[in-house]
Amino acid sequence: MPAAARDPVETIAPSPVTFPAASPTVRSLSFEDLAVDYDARFGRASAREQLLADILKPYLHREHPVIDIGTGTGNLAYQLQAKGFVVTGVDLSPRMARIAARRLCSRVVLADAFDLPFRNASAAQLCSIWLTHVVGNPVRVFLEAKRVLRPGGRYVVLPVGVPEAGGDEISDIIESMNDQLSRSGEARLGLAWRTTGENLLLAEAAGFHAAHVGPPAYFSYYQSPMEAAAAVEARLFGSLLRVCGREWHSIVEPTIARLRNLPSPYAPRRRRSGVQAVIELEA
Ligand SMILES: C[S@@+](CC[C@H](N)C(=O)[O-])C[C@H]1O[C@@H](n2cnc3c(N)ncnc32)[C@H](O)[C@@H]1O
Repeated sequence: MPAAARDPVETIAPSPVTFPAASPTVRSLSFEDLAVDYDARFGRASAREQLLADILKPYLHREHPVIDIGTGTGNLAYQLQAKGFVVTGVDLSPRMARIAARRLCSRVVLADAFDLPFRNASAAQLCSIWLTHVVGNPVRVFLEAKRVLRPGGRYVVLPVGVPEAGGDEISDIIESMNDQLSRSGEARLGLAWRTTGENLLLAEAAGFHAAHVGPPAYFSYYQSPMEAAAAVEARLFGSLLRVCGREWHSIVEPTIARLRNLPSPYAPRRRRSGVQAVIELEA
C-alpha cells in the first residue's frame, strides 16, 4: 500500500524511556545473504518448525488473520497455514521474502518492521519468531506493532533461545566464537541477544503490557562437527554475516579447525536450540 494511503504514525505517543540497546543508528540484520541456505541450517531439523508452530497455536485465533513480522523463508508461517490460520508474512530481505512468497502463495509483503504497510488498528494478531535480536531498534518494532494492532490485539513474540549451559561440544565451541566476536572491537551490528526481561521492558516502553509469559522450549537436531564447520565456513549464522578480515582470520578460522579436530568428526551429535520464552503482549 502506498505510504500516502496509510494513517499517520504520529498518533502513537513516543516512549519516555530510552534504552542504549535501542539506538536508531544500529541497522537491522537483513538475512539477504543467508536466504538460499537458511532452511538447511539445522540439517535434519524440521522438528523446529513443528515445535514452534505448536507453541504459537494456542495464542492465535483462526478467525482472524495473522501477520508474521520477520517471516524469513515463511517456514513457520507455512506450518501455521497448514493448521488452518490465514498468515501474511513480512520481511526486510527480498530473497527471504521471495522464498516465503512461493511457500505462502504470495501472502508476503516486503517491508521493514519499522514501517509496516498496514493501517492503524487494523490487525487482531501479530507474531514474530527470532526477530527481536536482529532488529536495530526493537522499541520501534514494538511501537509499530502497537500502531497496527487493534486495542486488545495480541503480539506473540518468540525470542531466540540461548544454548543451555553445559550443552554439546559443538555449541561450546560456537558459543566461545560468538563471545570472542562480541568482545572484539568490531561490533556485530544488528545482533543483540536480550533476556526475556529486557524484551518485556522494551515492549512496555512502546505501550504494550505482558498478557502472558510462557517457559522456554527447545528442539533437538543432529549435526556432525564437520557439518557444523561447513555451516560456520558458509556463514550460516547471523553472528557471522558481517565478520571479515582480521576477525575472520583470528577467531573464525580457529573455530572451524577446532570443530574439524573433534573426535569422530563425521559422527552426528545431538544438539538443542529453541526459544527462551513465549511473550504474549496485549496492545
Ligand atoms: C532469524 S530470521 C527468523 C526468520 C523466521 N521468523 C524463522 O523463525 O525462521 C530473522 C528474519 O528477520 C528479518 N528482519 C530483520 N530485520 C527486519 C526488519 N527490520 N523488518 C523486517 N524483517 C526483518 C531477516 O531478514 C530475517 O529473515
